[in-house]
Amino acid sequence: METTRFTRDTLSQAAAQLKTGQLVAFPTETVYGLGANALDQEAVKQVFHVKGRPSDNPLIVHVTGLEQVMMYVDEIHPLTKTLVEAYWPGPLTIILPIKEDAFPSVVTGGLSTVAFRMPDHALTLDLIETAGVPIVGPSANLSGTPSPTTADHVLHDFTGKIAGVLDGGATKIGVESTVIDLSDPTGVPVILRPGAITGEMLSETTQLMITNEPVVLKGTEAPKAPGMKYKHYSPKTNVIMVDSNDFEQVRRYLNEKALRAGILAGPTAAAIVRAEAGAIFMYQNDTVEAAAKGLFSGLRALDECQADLDVIFVETKEEHGLGYAYMNRLKKAANQQKFTNND
Ligand code: TXA
Ligand code: MG
Repeated sequence: METTRFTRDTLSQAAAQLKTGQLVAFPTETVYGLGANALDQEAVKQVFHVKGRPSDNPLIVHVTGLEQVMMYVDEIHPLTKTLVEAYWPGPLTIILPIKEDAFPSVVTGGLSTVAFRMPDHALTLDLIETAGVPIVGPSANLSGTPSPTTADHVLHDFTGKIAGVLDGGATKIGVESTVIDLSDPTGVPVILRPGAITGEMLSETTQLMITNEPVVLKGTEAPKAPGMKYKHYSPKTNVIMVDSNDFEQVRRYLNEKALRAGILAGPTAAAIVRAEAGAIFMYQNDTVEAAAKGLFSGLRALDECQADLDVIFVETKEEHGLGYAYMNRLKKAANQQKFTNND
């Protein structure tokens, strides 16, 4: 299959492909999504197939606004409107109970709820509007690998396997949307996946205590967001987290060992290990926003680079605000491994 790079000029062709059951990846403010018509069971099955995604992991349905959502739900949580007004379009995915048979069961993984999201990207809102149907969109990466933040990342994973990708440039935020569960109309909303819309922001908006704490999984109880139980974001190279203050120790460590190390860090930390590193991917600056934006891109670039790295050291951030989402993804990529100072 030929895989086309669509642009604004060829957006209507991309929409036509979606309408006829083909897969087209699309940009958002977070990461690229792997799009298919959410009402077309065969198309949605293809999404699972090409990603290699477990079938019990439900998909986010992308819409152009609350009006489109209302076609598929009955009773909504009283906070839905407040949250939509405050954060849509934007990186907040809202889980709501749906009408029976509103979507093919492949979309929901058999659940009676659906995760809805209105992405903050003009091209993609046009795409959904032109296609005239809601669009499913898991992150457009092979299951388990770092999420895609450019059209090139999508093409790397899916050339020959999908109809195309709508190229909207590099994504602004770099980590996936916050997922909030509003499926119980009488319950307090719960964050199932942290993102750029933080617990602090949601608490302020709703005047309720909504925390960033991850959902605790008891024994074999099924997780609330099924995707959270799978291996995630992992490049082929081993990833180790390093606190900003420990890069001097990393420098000494690399001086002693014959290791080819990749460095993914802000300018200040990267400067310390510049001479010892096998390859460096530097965040644009030392802020958490720059780190979130560069994380997946950096992991992919270092994994693919010619330096044949033994390990990738990645700078940590404080776990609040966007830093909570950044560390949530980084810990998974690193399988929790952290550099410890042995002197
Ligand atoms: O930023 C994003 O959300 C991106 C862009 C493309 O929109 N999409 C994305 O999709 O990250 P995906 O499929 O990689 O992650 C969706 C997460 C998974 O952890 C999934 O288990 C959870 O949302 N999820 C989806 N539907 C759900 C539901 N009905 N109940 C609970 N969790 C759900
Ligand atoms: Mg994903």
